[in-house]
Amino acid sequence: RETQRKTRDTHDTIAALREEAANCRACPLWKDATQTVFGEGPQNASIMLVGEQPGDKEDLAGKPFVGPAGEMLGRALRDAGIDRGKVYVTNAVKHFKFVPRGKIRLHQKPGTTEIRACRPWYERELAVIKPELVVALGATAAQSVLGKIMPINKNRGRLIDHDNTKVLVTVHPSYLLRLPDEDARALEYRHFVDDLTIAATFLR
Ligand code: URA
Repeated sequence: RETQRKTRDTHDTIAALREEAANCRACPLWKDATQTVFGEGPQNASIMLVGEQPGDKEDLAGKPFVGPAGEMLGRALRDAGIDRGKVYVTNAVKHFKFVPRGKIRLHQKPGTTEIRACRPWYERELAVIKPELVVALGATAAQSVLGKIMPINKNRGRLIDHDNTKVLVTVHPSYLLRLPDEDARALEYRHFVDDLTIAATFLR
């Protein structure tokens, strides 16, 4: 078994990890979700983006950030000079957590237990991609990546050294979508793009 594990670890590819993660039972979220939503992007990406968890659209599509938050993220990446196709995009938690509310499935924030249960997948993605920078989008991603709760506003936009990886913490694109005031949203959007512009210096 040990030999098997060693072989597996050194020969991991994202495709193999995705296949393995499809049957993940490390926490109960798999029961109600449609499927595991694994990370996606080039295996030689120099930047890895980490979100919170798949939303309704992602759960159905099986791909990360394809819904409204994904649209917002794509626009901000473009404005920061980052081609989304060049970065690896994943989530801290790889199953959609929700409660049914009539016809809709209402997003529920993942808890520490689910974040911890899912972290081995992030670790194995990290081992395969070996990015020069990890960007944590929002508090859940920051908690998973850094292994502790970190206030976003105090720590955003600077490079943090963690376990031999450079980490940049910023807000989650959904936060921008939730701001009711248009001026505040525009201001926060620019701040988000500023943070991503720091990330852009890690493109290669
Ligand atoms: N929000 C996330 O954090 N990740 C997704 O994939 C979609 C929405």
